[in-house]
Amino acid sequence: MTWQDIPGWTCKDTLALYSEWANDIDRGTIVEVGCAYGRSFAFLGSVVRRRVDIVAVDLWSEHMGGDNLHPSVFERMQSYGSPIESFRTNLELHGPDRHMRIVQGESSTSEPTSRRGFRR
Ligand SMILES: C[S@@+](CC[C@H](N)C(=O)[O-])C[C@H]1O[C@@H](n2cnc3c(N)ncnc32)[C@H](O)[C@@H]1O
Repeated sequence: MTWQDIPGWTCKDTLALYSEWANDIDRGTIVEVGCAYGRSFAFLGSVVRRRVDIVAVDLWSEHMGGDNLHPSVFERMQSYGSPIESFRTNLELHGPDRHMRIVQGESSTSEPTSRRGFRR
Protein backbone atom coordinates (compact mmCIF):
# COMPACT_ATOMS: atom_id res chain seq x y z
CA MET A 1 0.00 0.00 0.00
CA THR A 2 1.38 3.43 -0.96
CA TRP A 3 0.39 7.07 -1.35
CA GLN A 4 -1.17 6.06 -4.68
CA ASP A 5 -3.90 4.21 -2.80
CA ILE A 6 -5.07 7.49 -1.27
CA PRO A 7 -7.60 9.48 -3.31
CA GLY A 8 -6.66 13.02 -4.18
CA TRP A 9 -5.77 15.70 -6.64
CA THR A 10 -2.00 15.51 -6.74
CA CYS A 11 -0.61 16.88 -10.00
CA LYS A 12 2.63 15.93 -11.73
CA ASP A 13 4.18 19.30 -10.89
CA THR A 14 3.65 18.71 -7.18
CA LEU A 15 5.27 15.29 -7.36
CA ALA A 16 8.20 16.73 -9.30
CA LEU A 17 8.67 19.56 -6.78
CA TYR A 18 8.53 17.22 -3.78
CA SER A 19 11.02 14.88 -5.47
CA GLU A 20 13.34 17.84 -5.99
CA TRP A 21 13.05 18.77 -2.30
CA ALA A 22 13.82 15.17 -1.41
CA ASN A 23 17.16 15.54 -3.14
CA ASP A 24 17.93 19.09 -2.05
CA ILE A 25 16.75 19.38 1.57
CA ASP A 26 18.86 17.82 4.31
CA ARG A 27 17.21 19.13 7.45
CA GLY A 28 14.52 21.51 8.65
CA THR A 29 10.78 21.50 8.21
CA ILE A 30 8.48 21.21 5.21
CA VAL A 31 4.87 22.29 5.66
CA GLU A 32 2.21 21.22 3.21
CA VAL A 33 -0.87 23.42 3.27
CA GLY A 34 -3.90 21.71 1.78
CA CYS A 35 -3.61 17.97 2.37
CA ALA A 36 -7.22 16.76 2.06
CA TYR A 37 -7.10 12.93 2.26
CA GLY A 38 -3.29 12.88 2.39
CA ARG A 39 -2.27 11.77 -1.09
CA SER A 40 0.49 14.31 -1.77
CA PHE A 41 1.47 14.45 1.91
CA ALA A 42 2.01 10.67 1.98
CA PHE A 43 4.14 11.02 -1.14
CA LEU A 44 6.13 13.83 0.49
CA GLY A 45 6.74 11.68 3.55
CA SER A 46 7.87 8.77 1.45
CA VAL A 47 10.51 10.74 -0.45
CA VAL A 48 12.01 13.35 1.90
CA ARG A 49 14.78 12.42 4.31
CA ARG A 50 13.60 11.15 7.67
CA ARG A 51 15.42 13.90 9.56
CA VAL A 52 13.34 16.53 7.75
CA ASP A 53 10.19 17.31 9.76
CA ILE A 54 6.99 17.24 7.77
CA VAL A 55 3.86 19.09 8.85
CA ALA A 56 0.35 18.79 7.43
CA VAL A 57 -1.91 21.86 7.65
CA ASP A 58 -5.52 21.82 6.52
CA LEU A 59 -8.90 23.09 7.58
CA TRP A 60 -10.40 19.62 7.13
CA SER A 61 -13.77 21.36 7.31
CA GLU A 62 -15.55 19.14 4.78
CA HIS A 63 -15.15 15.89 2.88
CA MET A 64 -13.65 16.78 -0.48
CA GLY A 65 -14.63 15.12 -3.75
CA GLY A 66 -18.35 14.58 -3.52
CA ASP A 67 -18.58 15.84 -7.08
CA ASN A 68 -15.52 14.22 -8.67
CA LEU A 69 -14.43 11.12 -6.79
CA HIS A 70 -15.98 7.77 -7.62
CA PRO A 71 -19.01 7.42 -5.30
CA SER A 72 -17.60 4.27 -3.68
CA VAL A 73 -14.32 6.07 -2.91
CA PHE A 74 -16.14 9.10 -1.54
CA GLU A 75 -18.29 6.84 0.65
CA ARG A 76 -15.17 5.07 1.93
CA MET A 77 -13.64 8.41 2.92
CA GLN A 78 -16.83 9.37 4.73
CA SER A 79 -16.92 6.01 6.46
CA TYR A 80 -13.60 6.80 8.14
CA GLY A 81 -15.27 9.63 10.09
CA SER A 82 -14.60 13.34 9.99
CA PRO A 83 -12.31 14.77 7.26
CA ILE A 84 -9.30 14.83 9.58
CA GLU A 85 -10.03 11.26 10.70
CA SER A 86 -10.07 10.22 7.02
CA PHE A 87 -6.69 11.87 6.58
CA ARG A 88 -5.27 10.08 9.63
CA THR A 89 -6.69 6.72 8.55
CA ASN A 90 -5.25 7.06 5.06
CA LEU A 91 -1.84 7.92 6.46
CA GLU A 92 -1.98 4.94 8.82
CA LEU A 93 -3.03 2.55 6.06
CA HIS A 94 -0.99 3.86 3.15
CA GLY A 95 1.48 6.46 4.42
CA PRO A 96 5.14 6.04 5.25
CA ASP A 97 6.13 4.83 8.70
CA ARG A 98 7.61 8.06 10.03
CA HIS A 99 6.91 10.94 12.36
CA MET A 100 4.68 13.69 11.01
CA ARG A 101 2.86 16.59 12.58
CA ILE A 102 -0.73 17.49 11.89
CA VAL A 103 -2.23 20.95 12.39
CA GLN A 104 -5.91 21.55 11.77
CA GLY A 105 -6.56 25.18 10.98
CA GLU A 106 -6.45 28.10 8.63
CA SER A 107 -3.01 28.35 7.00
CA SER A 108 -2.64 32.06 7.72
CA THR A 109 -3.10 31.57 11.47
CA SER A 110 -1.26 28.28 11.95
CA GLU A 111 2.02 29.72 13.14
CA PRO A 112 5.16 27.98 14.24
CA THR A 113 5.89 28.55 17.93
CA SER A 114 9.12 26.64 18.16
CA ARG A 115 11.05 23.94 16.41
CA ARG A 116 8.96 21.40 18.29
CA GLY A 117 5.42 22.55 17.79
CA PHE A 118 2.86 24.61 15.99
CA ARG A 119 -0.13 26.38 17.43
CA ARG A 120 -3.30 27.59 15.82
C1 LIG B 1 -7.30 20.23 -3.67
S1 LIG B 1 -7.27 19.88 -1.98
C2 LIG B 1 -5.63 19.32 -1.68
C3 LIG B 1 -5.26 18.08 -2.43
C4 LIG B 1 -4.14 17.28 -1.83
N1 LIG B 1 -2.88 18.01 -1.75
C5 LIG B 1 -3.95 15.97 -2.58
O1 LIG B 1 -2.81 15.56 -2.83
O2 LIG B 1 -4.96 15.33 -2.90
C6 LIG B 1 -7.20 21.48 -1.22
C7 LIG B 1 -7.19 21.45 0.31
O3 LIG B 1 -6.83 22.75 0.78
C8 LIG B 1 -7.50 22.98 2.01
N2 LIG B 1 -7.52 24.44 2.23
C9 LIG B 1 -8.06 25.38 1.44
N3 LIG B 1 -7.87 26.62 1.97
C10 LIG B 1 -7.15 26.44 3.11
C11 LIG B 1 -6.62 27.32 4.09
N4 LIG B 1 -6.80 28.65 3.99
N5 LIG B 1 -5.93 26.81 5.13
C12 LIG B 1 -5.73 25.48 5.24
N6 LIG B 1 -6.21 24.58 4.33
C13 LIG B 1 -6.91 25.06 3.28
C14 LIG B 1 -8.86 22.36 1.80
O4 LIG B 1 -9.47 22.05 3.05
C15 LIG B 1 -8.53 21.13 0.96
O5 LIG B 1 -8.43 19.98 1.77
